[in-house]
This record gives sequence, structure tokens and C-alpha cells, in this order.
Amino acid sequence: LIVPSVLEMVKEKNFTTVPPRYVLSDQDKTENDSSLSSEIPVIDMERLCSVSAMDSELEKLDLACQDWGFFQLINHGIESSFLDKLETEVQDFFNLPMEEKQKLWQRSGEFEGFGQVNIVSEDQKLDWGDMFILTTQPIRSRKSHLFSKLPPSFRETIETYSSQVKSIAKILFAKMASVLEIKREEMEDLFEDVWQSIKINYYPPCPDPEQVIGLTPHSDAAGLTILLQVNQVEGLQIKKDGKWVVVKPLRNALVGNVGEILEIITNGRYRSIEHRAVVNSEKERLSVAMFHSPGKETVIGPAKSLVEKQKQSLFKSMSTQEFFDAFFAQKLNGKSHLDQMSI
Ligand code: SIN
Ligand code: FE2
Repeated sequence: LIVPSVLEMVKEKNFTTVPPRYVLSDQDKTENDSSLSSEIPVIDMERLCSVSAMDSELEKLDLACQDWGFFQLINHGIESSFLDKLETEVQDFFNLPMEEKQKLWQRSGEFEGFGQVNIVSEDQKLDWGDMFILTTQPIRSRKSHLFSKLPPSFRETIETYSSQVKSIAKILFAKMASVLEIKREEMEDLFEDVWQSIKINYYPPCPDPEQVIGLTPHSDAAGLTILLQVNQVEGLQIKKDGKWVVVKPLRNALVGNVGEILEIITNGRYRSIEHRAVVNSEKERLSVAMFHSPGKETVIGPAKSLVEKQKQSLFKSMSTQEFFDAFFAQKLNGKSHLDQMSI
């Protein structure tokens, strides 16, 4: 099932009416949802890595992952000039002529390239956005037919960003292991051959934003997602105590969020939280998500050290690949996927 480009659609002259395939059913419309302003915890990576402030920052991180499943990360070490460059590159990439983007469009049965994910039927509502997906790590898993067609400067920027974010993710995994008292080697082994993919989201403005959704409510399959709200347009919302909470873009901050695989590894201590993206009528919104999971063949399950302590295992074990296959075989829908993995 190959989806059309929303960006190309809104670029058409006289575009004013949202096609039925994007109009949500009344119960899914966003207009009557109350949303709260954000108090998402902010974690300072410099403090997290300093000798004197480490303990209190680690405690903050631990609480954020338990109570929110989300945090904003500041002082992460990626230069703001680099993030500006990334923004320009992403804009230019989505603004390439359609003939160029067509070469990078998803082939049927594949997840990578331009398109959408979790499309399982013809009559399913589509999200108001285009996305571009690539596996970035391990390097041997990169799809050369896609990488070779990327504009060289965009490709270089993605490669640099991929390794910077991977290092940040590895530090966060190590910190989480230490505070949860998961054996250091156990966590390291899980993410040794880290599987990282990038998903770039481009949500064009919509003449009728409350009729559509930029990204259907879902929780991430990954271990840890590190997201950049590229052009600082609001739109990301997370479900907290039954209400949608806005994740206010902070300049140069990254958003970290616990995915389902990390919920499994931590035997339910850290929670993956349902979130969605809404759109507006004024301005396009861009975001870049980087997902970090164990290698495809790695067996994931609750960490042994936690199961011993908690005296029970809440989730089944399986390989990362099996977990992802099951995740992508169904329509995005809250946290329904993880429920199937519970014992
Ligand atoms: C995502 O959940 O993958 C992206 C959310 C966003 O666009 O902020
Ligand atoms: Fe997500």
C-alpha cells in the first residue's frame, strides 16, 4: 500500500478541502480534547555526567522515566549550529521536486523511504504528514539503494547526527542501568549492536486541523527514542493521567522517550507513554525521531537482575525482530501492542 504525499497535495493550487481519507471519525477528532501545558521533566546531560551533581540528576531521570516516560534533554553536547544546519537540510530534502522524492518512495512491503507506517488496510484513515524512514545503525544494515540516492550534504548531516545521538542514547542506557541496578554488562550486551533508525516527519499546515491527526496516538516500539522538534512548532502531545499534555519545544533541547522495548527490559519500571502529533493551519511542523533498540537478533526480555529482585517477570522474551514484526503488522493504536507481550 503506497500512500500519497500530503505535502504535494497541499501545494496544489486552490487546495482547501481535506480529502475523506484524512478526515477522522467523530470520536477521534481532536477539537474537544483538553490539553494541558507542559511540565515534562528537564534533564541536564552535563549534570548527569558530572561527579558532583550526578546523583540528583540521575534521580530526576529515573522519576521522569517512571512517571512520564518522557523528558526533555538539555546540554546534550550537540552544537546548536549543527541543529540549525539539520533543520535547513531537512526542509530542503522535503522540498525536493516530487520526481526526486519518488525515487526514494517506499517500495511495497518495505518500511524505509518516504511514506507512512502501519498502513494495513485501504480504508484506514491516513495521517496528515509525510515521513521519511531509514535504518542508520548498524552501518551494515543501511539500505544502499536509498543512501546512495540522498543528496550528499543531507546524507553527511544524517550520518553525523546518527553517531552523535547514538552516543547520547548509550550514555542514557548506562545511567538508567545504574539507577535501576541492572548489571552494567547486561545492559551493554543488549545495546552493543544497537539498531538505530531515523524517522523524519513533515506535517504540512492543514486548512481544517481539528478534522485530522498528524500522527495517530501510539507508543514507540523502540528502546529509547530521541526526538528533535526541528522548527520548534508545537504539536507533540503525550497522554498523562488521561489528559493530553503538550511537549513545548525548548530551543536546542532533545526529547527522550521510553519505548516499549525499554518497558520490557525494565520489567515495567519505566513506561512507554502514548503520544500523538496534532497539526495547525498556519505553519508546517518538522520533527526528527531517532529510535534505539537492541540488534535485530538480540533476545529481549526483562533484565535478569530485576526479575530476581521483583520475583516475577511481567513480559515474554523474544527477538527484537519478532517484536517489530508484530508491531508493524497492525494499525497504530495506543499501547495495544505491548499488552500482547505481557505474561
Ligand atoms: C513520533 O512520535 O514519531 C513523532 C512525534 C512528533 O512529531 O513530535
Ligand atoms: Fe512516537
